[in-house]
Amino acid sequence: MEKKNIDWASIGFGYMPTDKRYVSLYKDGAWDQGALVDDPNIVLNECACVLQYAQTCFEGLKAYTTEDGRTVCFRPDLNAERMYDTAKRLEMPPFPKDRFVEAVKQVIKANEAWVPPYGSGATLYLRPYMFGSNAVIGVKPADEYQFRILTTPVGPYFKGGVKPITLCVSDFDRAAPHGTGHIKAGLNYAMSLHPIVEAHKAGFDENMYLDAATRTKVEETGGANFLFVTKDNKVVTPKSNSILPSITRRSLMVVAKEYLGLEVEEREVYFDEVKDFAECGLCGTAAVISPVGKIVDHGKEICFPSGMTEMGPTISKLRDTLTGIQMGKIEGPEGWIVEI
Ligand SMILES: Cc1ncc(COP(=O)(O)O)c(C=O)c1O
Repeated sequence: MEKKNIDWASIGFGYMPTDKRYVSLYKDGAWDQGALVDDPNIVLNECACVLQYAQTCFEGLKAYTTEDGRTVCFRPDLNAERMYDTAKRLEMPPFPKDRFVEAVKQVIKANEAWVPPYGSGATLYLRPYMFGSNAVIGVKPADEYQFRILTTPVGPYFKGGVKPITLCVSDFDRAAPHGTGHIKAGLNYAMSLHPIVEAHKAGFDENMYLDAATRTKVEETGGANFLFVTKDNKVVTPKSNSILPSITRRSLMVVAKEYLGLEVEEREVYFDEVKDFAECGLCGTAAVISPVGKIVDHGKEICFPSGMTEMGPTISKLRDTLTGIQMGKIEGPEGWIVEI
């Protein structure tokens, strides 16, 4: 497969239209058979439910070229499952899980020339999404929907090496206890735009959100789950019903236990205990793990012993092992790597 003539090492984390996108339409109570199309634009009625009442959700995953030249993607069945759960919560007709995985494979195959070569640091990012498309003026779910997958090549998340980031404890809430924090609804991200703009203005990289009910427990950031390492090398991740079940975080917990032989714990994490951890990282598809060097709580600084120049040793091992699995250098658990 001849790759596109792109300077892969210099592309950023942005949108670049590729040759094909997948579309399936829902009408009269059923999804159509779906197709790959050329046009990256969508024409919608001015009163489409997605435009008026934000009835939309999405997923994110990547396709990679392995060291031996295969094109693969990582655990698409979990994205299918999460989108299924999201759609149900938003009163949208869930897209069948097996068809989701099939569509992922089809769209990667059709854009294989856009899957960056091994070693470039870049990957092909897939964005499955779904929205209510017909005109709705009274507040109710749409009757017609589009399920789509767009793809775009994205550069290495960390250009010029991985640098620890600084977070601030947000005064805003990300999710209510019985709200939509556990699903990947567009509305969660719309409401996080103001807090992130404010955090950036104040010189921080990201927000740490606490639980809305008591403001004592760690939830997540606007786009990643937390993972902490204790001083005796145990891997701890917050348990909450109002955070997104990150596929990267769930995979890293398996890697920690099964590959690195570490003790792992998924439990409520109180903000008061954060100062006692040795390492902190943010897990998500985009960056795998971003090390956190510092958290600032209204002027009070928590500085992790791993510091502001390098990734801590355990987070570094976790990252190397998971990226090794994704790039085909280390044998992954059954079903994690799906070949195209
Ligand atoms: C709010 C939020 N939490 C966590 C994650 C990480 O999830 P995943 O590892 O499935 O990409 C994401 C990104 O998808 C996110 O948007």
